[in-house]
Amino acid sequence: MPEILFQLTEDGSHTLYLPEIDEHYHSVHGAIQESRHVFIKAGFEACEAQQPCVFEVGFGTGLNALLTAIEAEKRRRKVRYTSVDLYPLALEQALMLNYGKIFGEETLFANFHQAAWNASVALNDWLSLHKIEADFASMPMGENEYDLIYFDAFAPNKQADLWQQEIFDRLFRSLRPDGIFVTYCAKGVVRRMLQASGFVVERLPGPPGKHEMLRGRRPSF
Ligand SMILES: C[S@@+](CC[C@H](N)C(=O)[O-])C[C@H]1O[C@@H](n2cnc3c(N)ncnc32)[C@H](O)[C@@H]1O
Repeated sequence: MPEILFQLTEDGSHTLYLPEIDEHYHSVHGAIQESRHVFIKAGFEACEAQQPCVFEVGFGTGLNALLTAIEAEKRRRKVRYTSVDLYPLALEQALMLNYGKIFGEETLFANFHQAAWNASVALNDWLSLHKIEADFASMPMGENEYDLIYFDAFAPNKQADLWQQEIFDRLFRSLRPDGIFVTYCAKGVVRRMLQASGFVVERLPGPPGKHEMLRGRRPSF
């Protein structure tokens, strides 16, 4: 198991740091702030499906999943949330993260991490969770399955195998028409690969500390 260090980010929420690859799980300017900006505001709120099927690359700390569950309940939208991770956190590590405490949702946050892998679990009336332990680089995906994709892999210079044309082609096909893809990354090479897959791509203002982020939409024609 590689060494994982806890770090407080500027908004008071935790992130994790992997010294082995010199990479954080979130922005050090604010983990919750970044997750809310990129995945909830630009993704969940922009997604037109009333009962969205969400697919996440990189379950990690479960922060995106928790924020989605909170938003789902607030907006009364039922969500089917599928997330893949090749290196799930140990339960003791996950339970030391302060996200549940910050939102007064400690039980819900613990349930995200205690839920079985490779099974579908109803976490509450609003969200069902399916965590898949697999290497996303070689994971087969269906077509027309999802309304919203959170692409939250480690950065392209740390994990080039997940930022390849074939990956974006597969994700494009897995979306339903009008489905949305969001990522914190704004690199030109990523934007061009998304366009080559068929996405209509927008460059949006990024969260604090980042100039831009990307959102792609699968056109409906
Ligand atoms: C930036 S972190 C994800 C942060 C997460 N979305 C959150 O809310 O905390 C990237 C995640 O990708 C996972 N990962 C790395 N390589 C992977 C692979 N080949 N397939 C699936 N997941 C992978 C890591 O274990 C890590 O949890």
